[in-house]
Amino acid sequence: MPAMIISVAHRKGGIGKTSITLHLATALATKKGYKVAVLDTDSQQSAFKYREFESRNYNGQEPPYVVERVLPKHLFDEIRYLREKYDVIFIDVPRLTEDKDDSQLSTALTYCDGVLIPIVAGELEGLSSIEFVKLIQGIEKYKKEKDFSFIYYGFLNKKNQRKENATAVKFMKKLGVPMFQSSLSDVKVLSKPYTYESVMESKEGRVRFAPFFKEFLTKYELDHG
Ligand SMILES: Nc1ncnc2c1ncn2[C@@H]1O[C@H](COP(=O)(O)OP(=O)(O)OP(=O)(O)O)[C@@H](O)[C@H]1O
Ligand SMILES: [Mg+2]
Repeated sequence: MPAMIISVAHRKGGIGKTSITLHLATALATKKGYKVAVLDTDSQQSAFKYREFESRNYNGQEPPYVVERVLPKHLFDEIRYLREKYDVIFIDVPRLTEDKDDSQLSTALTYCDGVLIPIVAGELEGLSSIEFVKLIQGIEKYKKEKDFSFIYYGFLNKKNQRKENATAVKFMKKLGVPMFQSSLSDVKVLSKPYTYESVMESKEGRVRFAPFFKEFLTKYELDHG
């Protein structure tokens, strides 16, 4: 089976795309035995740097999955090559700055079989979230027409504990975005994106992350690994 390609994506910055990608990748590799690759397409190279930084504490120990830097223009060729080698490939996408257009992001997301949208309350202002949802729903429509499967969900990332969390979920549902039941809380253990050992090795990580991971496995049909 070729790899399932997934992106935790949004146009917005700082809402947990990279850290949640790495938490999911680590859990899939260490807990479910999947062969996983993370393709870092962000010029900030945050996923790559997290791995590099952490590898210093592991004295040459083989990491449970690869994190590779890929230029957006090489993404298509890279996926074509890697798809046969891995079970799951995550594409970590950059935020959009005002002067950038959507085309690189939408191209990357068109390669995906699954997209997860982190929703951070209080950061829904403006048209950015609506535009992003429209982009995803356009991709979904295109895939359905071609008979390709495409799975997308939103989930609440309570990066900041806010009373607007419920409103944010309602807003997304109104836009027609299917939402996860579980959410991620704002805790120290989730702020550090472990790439060698799953956050679920700690009790707090288990409590805070396991229900989200379980729902992810079911909804993205990865529960059989
Ligand atoms: N649920 C959470 N609990 C605690 N900290 C969180 C949570 N979600 C995100 N963070 C923290 O918020 C910061 C931004 O997260 P991250 O870098 O993953 O976002 P991003 O969307 O990839 O940003 P960028 O657009 O810059 O790539 C990080 O320090 C991360 O650890
Ligand atoms: Mg990032």
